[in-house]
Amino acid sequence: MIVVLIGYMGAGKTSVGKNLAKILDYNFFDLDDYISENEQVSIPEIFQKKGEIYFRTREAKYLRQLIASSEDIVLALGGGTPCYSENMTFLNNSNKINTFFLKLPLRSLVDRLIPEKMNRPLIAHLNTQEEFLEFIGKHLFERNTFYNMATYTVDCEKKTVQEISED
Ligand code: S3P
Repeated sequence: MIVVLIGYMGAGKTSVGKNLAKILDYNFFDLDDYISENEQVSIPEIFQKKGEIYFRTREAKYLRQLIASSEDIVLALGGGTPCYSENMTFLNNSNKINTFFLKLPLRSLVDRLIPEKMNRPLIAHLNTQEEFLEFIGKHLFERNTFYNMATYTVDCEKKTVQEISED
């Protein structure tokens, strides 16, 4: 079985994924790390040098490559992965994959992302809390349609990584 974690930046996909992999005794993969290792360049550098469209095509390719070569793993996607290249349809069409949407309200995401914006090229230019709220609010409005295509939704508000993994 392949457990795929989706959700906005800062939702906790990587921390929950690592913990869940330990509980299930599965290997953990982070799609951004997998892309970075294969392209031998960091995610912000890919955005900067090649642009977002290039990143999205690579992201779709590596997602398919990783799924095709894996059995029992927990995989954390990037925040935007579900929203491009029909990636959710691809994931939902496989019966060896279960998708989980880690859901957090706008305010909690903003509080987490303000101190963590630097290695996230899409939000690195934001400064004030108002700018974060406006940008992420709009982004969530656009992206929720895709996140809601997950098989399961996990409410992550006020929960520890362990509690979310147990859910
Ligand atoms: C992105 C999220 C990032 C990374 C890239 C784009 C997005 O992953 O894939 O910066 O579009 O939301 P995280 O969700 O792990 O930060």
